[in-house]
Amino acid sequence: MEVAAKRLDHLMSRGQDFLGVRYAILGGAMTWVSERNLVSAISNAGGFGVIASGAMSPDLLRAEIQATKKLTTAPFGVNLITLHPQLMDLIDVCVDEKIEHVVLAGGLPPSTAITALKDQGIKVICFAPALVIAKKLLKIGVDALVIEGMEAGGHIGPVSTSVLVQEILPHVKEIPVFVAGGIGRGETIVSYLELGAAGCQLGTRFVCVKESIAHPHFKKAFMNAQARDTVISPQLDARFPVIPVRAISNQATQAFVAYQKELIAQVDREEMNPKEAQLKIEHFWAGALKKAVVDGDIENGSIMAGQSVGMVTQEQSTQEVLEELLHQATLSLFSRVS
Ligand SMILES: Cc1cc2nc3c(=O)[nH]c(=O)nc-3n(C[C@H](O)[C@H](O)[C@H](O)COP(=O)(O)O)c2cc1C
Repeated sequence: MEVAAKRLDHLMSRGQDFLGVRYAILGGAMTWVSERNLVSAISNAGGFGVIASGAMSPDLLRAEIQATKKLTTAPFGVNLITLHPQLMDLIDVCVDEKIEHVVLAGGLPPSTAITALKDQGIKVICFAPALVIAKKLLKIGVDALVIEGMEAGGHIGPVSTSVLVQEILPHVKEIPVFVAGGIGRGETIVSYLELGAAGCQLGTRFVCVKESIAHPHFKKAFMNAQARDTVISPQLDARFPVIPVRAISNQATQAFVAYQKELIAQVDREEMNPKEAQLKIEHFWAGALKKAVVDGDIENGSIMAGQSVGMVTQEQSTQEVLEELLHQATLSLFSRVS
């Protein structure tokens, strides 16, 4: 087992050095879930926790960072949504608070944001949904990439992790690349590391840990769900695009279909203009994640979850989840090196 553990350490070394942690496993930022408690628990257990700033104001983000620092001395990062109207102020907070890693999510980041972070010596991590974008980000000077397949929970792209890994990993050697989406076990982490990943990012697996403040109803929905219960937000008509989000199917999913049908019918009868219908569709899910995570309304809220949700079967401590993943990873290597 010692040889296998050393091999795993070696496979993770690039990611460990980049993040400054014991294990190259990021706890993917999850809005309303990845706050001080979960983030510090992941970092204290040797992984890399990331605060989800979501729609937080700069003051709230500062308070969250300071509160997290009180719970851990280990490194952690901050995830910023590029569409946030105060993105540059949030960056200032990260600089003031001496955050060393920032993940820019939610679309192609503006180069001004990347430059502002890099000028202050902050390492910038961005999502690359295709090889051309990976190459573009590399040119702009980002320090690491996350490639996330459509198996993931939350906002997703159209391509699976297994295809993105083949499309991007062989062609990006200059900077560390972390793989996300659908990872629930350590054997899979090993397989991506062996293909050249610097580490992996998991979200769904961490939602139900003891330290997570997600509402007990939200956790229960995870523990009762199987992979096929997670669906991509349905779109009924190409004229009215829907932002693809993977979540556990519930009443809200059905209501969203009925709502779109009604709006489309109104547009077709020329009782509503298409722009108004599109806006209404976009607003349907506003506040829905908070409703589910914080209020525990799992019928009317959005239970964002990835396909690995079937592997979440009980409430464990963060440390137990990480140890389980590492044990599975080491065992899978042991069976080959012994
Ligand atoms: C409830 C939930 C909320 C999420 N919120 C965010 C977010 O605010 N920012 C972000 O970059 N990714 C977000 N994600 C994606 C995660 O950071 C992570 O990349 C993803 O969960 C990894 O895939 P997995 O769910 O298959 O493990 C969210 C995922 C979930 C399940």
